[in-house]
Amino acid sequence: MHPGEYTAQTVFENFMDGTWSASSSGRLFENRNPANHDDVIGVFQESTADDAVRAIDAAERAYADWRLVPAPRRAEMLFRAAQLIADRKEQFARDMTREMGKVLEETRGDVQEAIDMTFFMAGEGRRMYGQTVPSELRDKFAMSVRQPLGVCGVITPWNFPMAIPSWKIVPALVCGNTVVFKPSSLTPLSAVNFVKVLAEAGVPPGVVNMVTGGPEVGTVLSTHDAVKVVSFTGSTAVGRLVNQNAAPAFKKVHLEMGGKNIVIVMDDAQLELAVEGCVWGGFGTTGQRCTAASRVVVHEKVHDEFLAEFSRRVKALRVGDGAIDGVQMGPSISESQLETVMRYVEIGRKEGATLVLGGHRLQEHAYARGWFHEPTIFADVQPSMRIAREEIFGPVVSVMRCRSLAEAIDIGNDVEYGLSASIYTRDINKAFAAMRDMYTGIFYVNAPTIGAEVHLPFGGTKATGNGHREAGIAALDVFSEWKSIYVDFSGRLQRAQIDTE
Ligand code: UN1
Repeated sequence: MHPGEYTAQTVFENFMDGTWSASSSGRLFENRNPANHDDVIGVFQESTADDAVRAIDAAERAYADWRLVPAPRRAEMLFRAAQLIADRKEQFARDMTREMGKVLEETRGDVQEAIDMTFFMAGEGRRMYGQTVPSELRDKFAMSVRQPLGVCGVITPWNFPMAIPSWKIVPALVCGNTVVFKPSSLTPLSAVNFVKVLAEAGVPPGVVNMVTGGPEVGTVLSTHDAVKVVSFTGSTAVGRLVNQNAAPAFKKVHLEMGGKNIVIVMDDAQLELAVEGCVWGGFGTTGQRCTAASRVVVHEKVHDEFLAEFSRRVKALRVGDGAIDGVQMGPSISESQLETVMRYVEIGRKEGATLVLGGHRLQEHAYARGWFHEPTIFADVQPSMRIAREEIFGPVVSVMRCRSLAEAIDIGNDVEYGLSASIYTRDINKAFAAMRDMYTGIFYVNAPTIGAEVHLPFGGTKATGNGHREAGIAALDVFSEWKSIYVDFSGRLQRAQIDTE
């Protein structure tokens, strides 16, 4: 592919030191609509390691001043950015549906999440509270303050193309760090939209830099000496690599990875509500959420009734181009993601699960140019089966049976991931027991496993994460570090722990 083949409107560049520029590679990659792969949205820079290094250099230079800009001033820029995103919400949502495939209602939600996060974090510019505590010694003052770390490498996925970048970039900025951002190559237009807004809102040159491209860029972001924090959302396999890359230099690494989230439906549940929640949790975003409700375990007393109604509702879902009114489920993001879905359907069949609904790629007529798959339900799934244990990231839900809450919780916890879980019950005792015993970072009562709000911590246990949380004020812990400060105004030497009288 050669740059000359495209018009100026469709060639997108990297953003470095406040200017848009081409990669030194001279290579480009295409961004195509997953609902219609004839639709080329634009071409983006296939950047090199050298581009990434230059972006890091720019971020390092900008850090010298940005860290000293008062946090409330930094926040003013972020408030402006939030407002600009709100003003352009509809356009950004349309761009996002076109490159990512999820339905407009959901891409509006994605943009809204970026607006919410940006407003919320901008508010931290006037808080970012530390502690002021009494000293154990006379005439001595003690406090802790948050300090920025430096350049942050931000690596984001395609399923929330604006929300997730905002979860990382905005807290990094309000804390006084600078950023080099590598978005997914499947959704770079939303990244460009977001970065443009930040620049327009007055964020100075070099403070936010964007480099598009593949693993070459990610490797530099996770190994370069000047990068002090790496925040990554994506697969567990790549997250492990990022962690290994960053380990020798003891970088602070925040990882948000896979999920195999469960909805527990008890025999006393409001069944209609549970069904509705499982449809939304399992097939919203075409199942391409790390929080997706990809497993449902139903009490045997209501299992058959649940399954019949769940299948009826899922069968009625309208699949298609997410930009079309009335469509409820879009395509998979890419051919390879679709192939993963198809592979798992085959695995489920071979494992002996019952294919209750779907199970095929959609290719006829309106589906011919896209990566569509039927919404798919497996029943009689055993907890040991791969379709009950591995993240599929597609429109496939595995339904299992249980005889008790204790059994449901055991099944729920017996996977390598721990992001989100939920229970449908009218018994408050069961709800609280499950809330305590599900070893996940997020838990819902009478709601599906998706729908986290920006002002609470987001993240998971086990192979989902590495102990950090994003969103909420927990995000500040990723993007700042504590400095404890003691001021002795006694005019003499006072020895802690020794001068105890
Ligand atoms: C993700 O799936 O990667 O709670 C993020 C939710 C959304 C965020 C999902 N607010 O489902």
